[in-house]
Amino acid sequence: MASNYTENFTVEKCKTSKINDVDFDDLKFGSVFSDHMLVCDYKNGTWEAPKITPYQPITLEPSSKIFHYGQSIFEGMKAYKDDNGSVFLFRPTDNCKRLNISAKRLAMPELPEAYFIDGLKALLELEKDWIPTAEGSALYIRPFMFATGQGFHASPADSYKFIIACAPSGAYFSGQVKVLIEEQYSRSANGGVGFAKAGGNYAGQFYPTQLAKDKGYQQVIWTDDNTHDYIEEAGAMNIFVRINDTLLTVPTSDRILDGITRKSILSIAEAEGIKTEVRKIKVSELIEASENGSLKELFGAGTAAVVSPISGFGFKGQDYELPKLENTYGALLKKRITDIQTNKVDDPYGWRVKV
Ligand code: PLP
Ligand code: COI
Repeated sequence: MASNYTENFTVEKCKTSKINDVDFDDLKFGSVFSDHMLVCDYKNGTWEAPKITPYQPITLEPSSKIFHYGQSIFEGMKAYKDDNGSVFLFRPTDNCKRLNISAKRLAMPELPEAYFIDGLKALLELEKDWIPTAEGSALYIRPFMFATGQGFHASPADSYKFIIACAPSGAYFSGQVKVLIEEQYSRSANGGVGFAKAGGNYAGQFYPTQLAKDKGYQQVIWTDDNTHDYIEEAGAMNIFVRINDTLLTVPTSDRILDGITRKSILSIAEAEGIKTEVRKIKVSELIEASENGSLKELFGAGTAAVVSPISGFGFKGQDYELPKLENTYGALLKKRITDIQTNKVDDPYGWRVKV
């Protein structure tokens, strides 16, 4: 498994594992962290050899540019364990590619793919026991990069840190998901950083999302910043709409994250013989479809959210309920994708990667 990049990895193991302190029968999403992390520093124009260390605090200068100018990007992935104890990742090179797309847009250094993939595999070798196997749970993996370089000058930093930390996790949403279709605030704009997985994209969502939560909605569905007439994506997932028998999702753009779950769901749906359309969707079309009964399903898709059915949506002070169907596309597609991820079925796409 070791490549030229990773054979010089240093591994410092923790003295005592925290694993026995964790209640694997009651896992929340992303709130307890495994024993080790991978750390890789970028200095003097180059990435140093990655190190695996105990999960621990890091020290930063107050003048580090992350605090001032927000150069911070991340990825979200999961590791799964099958009944034989083998460990799998899902489309990991796509996460690495997207990290580097985000890095470029935020004027940060791109990370060599071997550091990401081999580093992740080496980390998972150590953290195998942290992968939960109960249905709906997985080891959530958070690769992230931020500016450590110092100075108050508003310009890119000259040093960065890349870390991979892991959190055994249960479902992202604990109950029904009701969404508010946003008509005032925007998540992203043309020419902006919406397509990047930049920390600031999430910070900017928190206030409008809190306003929505205060009204009883769990997520916001963002609309285009120009007219607020078209739906884009939700705070932590891409959106699918079923009108009659057709499954729709909006095209990605420089305002929308190119979700790995979204593109996988589209491929699986097509293989299942479900008619799919990738096109712009007007809020007014959703409302009309809800009123005339042709709107059958709404669901979100993402690594953390997997496939999360949406029970209803609010818009301009009015609530619209989704019908409660027996056999939903959402449930079928969720089963198909998780079966591939957890090695329960063949993977005709070559998405699953054994660690
Ligand atoms: N959109 C946003 C804003 C997200 O944060 C996520 C989660 O990563 C997604 C979409 C779904 O992307 P993926 O399926 O690659 O996890
Ligand atoms: C993911 O699904 O991996 C994400 O990054 C969403 C995050 C906001 C939890």
